Amino acid sequence: MINKINTLQEYHEAYQECIDNPEHFWHQLARKFIWRRPWHTVLEWDFIKPEIKWFDGGGLNITENCLDRHLETQPNKTAIIWESNDPNEASVTYTYKQLHAKVCELANVLKNLGVQKGDRVCIYMPMIPELSMALLACARIGAVHSVVFAGFSSRSLSDRINDADAKVVLTTDGSYRGAKAIDLKGIVDEALLDCPNVQSVLVYQRTNTPVSMQGGRDLWWHDEIAKVDTHCEPVIIGSEDPLFILYTSGSTGRPKGIMHTAGGYMVYTAYTFKNVFQQQEDDIYWCTADIGWVTGHSYIVYGPLLNGATVLMFEGIPTWPDNGRFWDVIDKHQVTIFYTAPTAIRSLMAGDHSPKSTHSLNSLRILGTVGEPINVEAWEWYHEHVGRGNCPIVDTWWQTETGGMMISPLAGITPTKPGFATLPLPGVQPALLDENGKEIEGNGVEGKLCIKFPWPGMARTIWGDHNRFRETYFSAFPGYYFTGDGCRRDADGYYRITGRVDDIIIVSGHNLGTAEIENAIDEHELVNETAVVGYPHPVKGFAVYAYVVLFAEAAGKDHDALRKEINESISAIIGPIGKADKIQFVTGLPKTRSGKIMRRILRKIAEGETDNLGDTSTLLDPGVVEEIMRGKV
Ligand code: WT7
Repeated sequence: MINKINTLQEYHEAYQECIDNPEHFWHQLARKFIWRRPWHTVLEWDFIKPEIKWFDGGGLNITENCLDRHLETQPNKTAIIWESNDPNEASVTYTYKQLHAKVCELANVLKNLGVQKGDRVCIYMPMIPELSMALLACARIGAVHSVVFAGFSSRSLSDRINDADAKVVLTTDGSYRGAKAIDLKGIVDEALLDCPNVQSVLVYQRTNTPVSMQGGRDLWWHDEIAKVDTHCEPVIIGSEDPLFILYTSGSTGRPKGIMHTAGGYMVYTAYTFKNVFQQQEDDIYWCTADIGWVTGHSYIVYGPLLNGATVLMFEGIPTWPDNGRFWDVIDKHQVTIFYTAPTAIRSLMAGDHSPKSTHSLNSLRILGTVGEPINVEAWEWYHEHVGRGNCPIVDTWWQTETGGMMISPLAGITPTKPGFATLPLPGVQPALLDENGKEIEGNGVEGKLCIKFPWPGMARTIWGDHNRFRETYFSAFPGYYFTGDGCRRDADGYYRITGRVDDIIIVSGHNLGTAEIENAIDEHELVNETAVVGYPHPVKGFAVYAYVVLFAEAAGKDHDALRKEINESISAIIGPIGKADKIQFVTGLPKTRSGKIMRRILRKIAEGETDNLGDTSTLLDPGVVEEIMRGKV
């Protein structure tokens, strides 16, 4: 159904076509979907305001394209294969027909709870098929889903529920992660103490652990499902109506509710999935991300289902019950396309958890990576030990804000180079900018990565704060979308992402704002002031290094005990993913005369690079730096 590029020459042609006539290019692609109302304008855009509209005037429901359309051609094809955390628990499969019925039922339950088009529904669930169903059920009735990764703390959850003003929350009694069982409902209960607008909580029974159910608010999923049937007409929404909100860390403490709309996102995720993975009818596709992140939204739920693919969903972790779990799952389900993150690859290679000779892995056809730059060593290990030397690797660069992949090889078509995301996909026009905002032309250059033309999958706003959307992405370089990443374009015109150039640290593939972590640390009663930076870590990519100034009252307190308390505070406020690997207590932070913390210096010290600290002439008190260097942990 979706146009597939088959050769490198076809790629170059498609790329050129999309530069010459983007509207025609995307119009032709969009026509392949089910629309209930035609669009009047393919594209309207302004990167200053900013305002971006794709297929405006069009009306659709994305679930008709993910589900209903396949009922005519392949009702009995497997849509979802679910693999439990526990290898001894039977896997579960849903055909497209069964998934359609489940989604319609759940959509009817949401309607019974009073959810209407445009209402926000918060989803806080583990990786079970009902999580995919939850997103689709919202989309079925035109409600806006806001999925919160089920590893976030109750505080993070309540902030996100309130920011989106969600009135319904979907969750489970508990969840499993390796050997751990987590009391999800308890976390929701705690979060809801601060969420006066939530009217109902629908609870799916996953662990059968006892939970408290608040009368008039909390309902069992199975009780409500028993009251409805499997017919639910899709609610038609506008192309530019919101499909979902997904929170991502920002440079200031507050997370940003990235908003995506229905029409462009649908076309873009479907097109990129098909082409980057060169997906075929009989592929078994496995993306190891959690649906709580954009990778899961776009490439576990929407992209694959729009293409009628078979998707494997995994509840567990790579290291439980042992380090061979990924390889076991690949063999068990004969996975053909495997998409994971560099941090997972590095953690498995570090402990020599390579697939053993007892693992066949010969079902694999294509490998993918996403989330952070992949180092050459990890790329080569992945290629050799997992791909057995004969699976192309697609290193896909993109962001929550881009909705879908932007710079990536097409599997088996684009010649790859370890560490390079290679070439932009059709419709993506990258630009490298220098410090003065001037575009750097030619090859063999490095700069800040911007995009100079809209693509259908791009975010439209930050929920409730369009001003922040403009300031974050469109003000550093007027007329361009600024990604926050640094990038090199080599002699062959290939792109290599070099990492963040802003105050975001990517720890094990998760974005964290330094300000967000600083705020969490500052909440400790003995902490006066904090500065957080990232430093390179062999498995996590980057880890958190915190410089902490204590109040006088802390004198004599045990430093290791304090470190533990500080990390507990981060865990409670953000979640365990935000914990600091290193905490150094200092008497002051290096500041400029105007009071700005010189993070550049702190970053260098954390990296262990103390010989050349750069220009320190604007420092208020150079003595502070000496002290910090001496006390490095
Ligand atoms: C940031 C976006 C895209 C889904 C997961 C992350 C980094 C992502 C790559 C890659 C180098 C990458 C960038 C980007 N990143 N993929 N293949 N090579 N860096 O989404 O949480 O919004 O993070 O992840 O720094 O800006 P996200």
